Amino acid sequence: MEALVIRGGASLKGRVRVGGAKNAALPIMAAALLAPGASTIEDVPHLKDVDTMSGVLNALGTPTARQGSTISIDASSIDSTEPPYDLVRAMRASFLVMGPLLARTGRVTISLPGGCAIGSRPIDLHLKGLSALGADIEMGYGQISARADKLSGARIYLDFPSVGATENIMMAASLAQGLTVIENAAQEPEVVDLANFLNAMGARVRGAGTNVLRIEGVEALEPTSYMVVPDRIEAGTLMIAAAATMGALTIENAVPEHMKSITAKLREAGVYVVEDVDGSITVQADSRPDGVDVKTMPYPGFPTDLQAQFMALMCVSSGMSVITETVFENRFMHVAELARMGASIRIDGRSAVIEGQEHLSGAQVRCTDLRAGACLVIAGLVAQGVTEVSEVYHIDRGYERFEEKLTQVGADIERIEKA
Ligand code: EPZ
Repeated sequence: MEALVIRGGASLKGRVRVGGAKNAALPIMAAALLAPGASTIEDVPHLKDVDTMSGVLNALGTPTARQGSTISIDASSIDSTEPPYDLVRAMRASFLVMGPLLARTGRVTISLPGGCAIGSRPIDLHLKGLSALGADIEMGYGQISARADKLSGARIYLDFPSVGATENIMMAASLAQGLTVIENAAQEPEVVDLANFLNAMGARVRGAGTNVLRIEGVEALEPTSYMVVPDRIEAGTLMIAAAATMGALTIENAVPEHMKSITAKLREAGVYVVEDVDGSITVQADSRPDGVDVKTMPYPGFPTDLQAQFMALMCVSSGMSVITETVFENRFMHVAELARMGASIRIDGRSAVIEGQEHLSGAQVRCTDLRAGACLVIAGLVAQGVTEVSEVYHIDRGYERFEEKLTQVGADIERIEKA
């Protein structure tokens, strides 16, 4: 088991490049199943979750190959419509192959994705949408089977703007007969990236980035090549780390438009954030941040995937802050670990009340999910003394060469093997 050992106190300074977005690459890899032939996807980060999705696609008989940061997927023929249980259990995003398999082959059998540390993570909205498109869905023995000779367009209202449900339904609708309208759809940049990929394959998706999607089904799609959008969550994580360590960091390859909520919150906290003409973002701080309140919301609101990281920043603020998590029901697992480092946090229902401290102290802590892991690394960067963050495999699911990038801009952090 590996751990990261961090000696706190260094300020992050210099330039660091953000990679392609994990949460765009995963649905786009699944969408490659829709077109017979080989698609290539560029700027795909080297992450455990990407390897898992490649494993799922290989098991379905659509071989994948990686050349640097480009992944090719040959979906000329699909030999199986039953993604392996162990891979679906390992990564919820495997569920994103359901819509494409149903649309391309008319059948799919997949195990119910498990819950995880941050919540039960139901799939009722995915199934509501796919059955509205005409799929016959049966559940039993921990499996879901869906069948459809031909999907037909439908008007679907999502009770919650679920990212995954929007993506699964959009992919299935791209080959359905007629028009599908998804209302209260997710507006995340990764949903827009998937829509752009589908349209590059010949789909007719309109309205991506708004809460109403219109998908005119087509007969067939063509393989294509596509470059994935930069990862706004990696960028936001680095921005927060720069503010917490009172550094001066320029983040390259970020999309300032996607960072509006975190930029606004950092500025509210007294942090200097400037969007450079070349699209990079510079974050600078020379004092502790002010305490500010945050409420996570679906995009364009403050992202739940930056909640834990921002909490680490508020732990060393000069005031009080209240962080409210509205997207997942159990995404405060990092609070107990931060408390071990001297943070003063009180959970009150879906809110955490944080009283900023001048210092945190290094301690042995463990990751509970990938964003909690990033939070603990940020806390370790600002703590006095040494922090050891264990179960680092969570971080490797979503951050490529995390400790290398941080070392390049001044962090004292190394990966060790633990017995
Ligand atoms: C995507 O997960 C992301 N993962 C998550 O990132 C992210 O936190 C989440 O969107 C919210 O932005 C990928 O894109 C691979 P949701 P997803 O469906 O699609 C409820 C990370 O750190 N819901 O928008 O699973 C659900 O329980 C990961 O990179 C239903 O009730 O999220 C949750 O409370 C973590 N029924 C809320 O919606 C459903 O059918 C948001 O879930 C589906 C979801």
